[in-house]
Amino acid sequence: MAAPRVFVTRQIPCIGLERLSEHCDVEVWPGELPPDRNTLLAKVPGAAGLLTLLSDRIDAEVFAAAGPQLKVVSNYAVGYNNIDTVEAQKRGVRVGNTPDVLTAATADMAVALLLAAARHLREGVDDVREGRWQTWKPLGYLGVELSDRTIGIVGGGRIGAAVAQRLHGGWKMRVLYTARSDKRDLEQATGARRVSFEELLEESDFVSIHCDLNPETAGMFDAAALQRMKPGSVLVNTARGGVVDQDALLEALRNGPLLGAGLDVTDPEPLSPEHPLAQAANCVIAPHIGSATREAREAMARIAADNLLAGLFDQPLPAAVV
Ligand code: GLV
Ligand code: GLV
Repeated sequence: MAAPRVFVTRQIPCIGLERLSEHCDVEVWPGELPPDRNTLLAKVPGAAGLLTLLSDRIDAEVFAAAGPQLKVVSNYAVGYNNIDTVEAQKRGVRVGNTPDVLTAATADMAVALLLAAARHLREGVDDVREGRWQTWKPLGYLGVELSDRTIGIVGGGRIGAAVAQRLHGGWKMRVLYTARSDKRDLEQATGARRVSFEELLEESDFVSIHCDLNPETAGMFDAAALQRMKPGSVLVNTARGGVVDQDALLEALRNGPLLGAGLDVTDPEPLSPEHPLAQAANCVIAPHIGSATREAREAMARIAADNLLAGLFDQPLPAAVV
């Protein structure tokens, strides 16, 4: 039997590719940028497996182009909003993701962005680099402290819980969260309380977003939500850009109530450097690097390869979405 053909949409850590090469005929897209739409559509016909990134839109058109021998799509990410999972299910194609192994890395990034936004780090660093900083200023760059404040976690899953534990353990923050169900472990570890979205916005000094992007959460942080936040509060988003209405965020950063925002994700990615949000001194934007540690990316490569192989050889996926 010929080895199954697999298309990998980008170079990933070699540990993953080596595993695949033992069992499959692997083609890896060599570009720095994702394959464009036409290239993707031209590469998938005949593939039994796809290893994809969050920047690849895997929709009905891609499934149709791939054809009936496609068995599995393994996403090199925990989020899978780039994949039409309903269409996958309809076609009997299995979908995997890479949970757990990037939880610590992403939670650390959320804390880094929270600190950066709370202490005007971007404004200060920009001033130093561009020669605007002239002297130590008693009243300059005044931020807020973290100790004994309230953190609001939107989405009490693995990453949200890890952020809560860091902030509760490190700064004794009170933890509020929203989720579809009670998270007893989180409550026991941090004394967290599950509240309504409105109460979370009104009570939290810091709000950190950790929910999936789906039709219910798209644009959830709209003008009404942002205007409910506490004066001088900070918003952190390491989930997906589409959860936040960026025009409303800009308004909340310019005219209140927000002190600052820390974003690892935007919509689109990248955001144009001319975009007013990219220009706003009180908005720290990182290039979607939540999982960018060597440890996390290598572990993601292992899981993504194992998911793909399991799908190809009709075994249960180690981390299945559908
Ligand atoms: C990154 O955003 C991921 O979903 O893994
Ligand atoms: C700050 O640098 C201080 O010495 O207070």
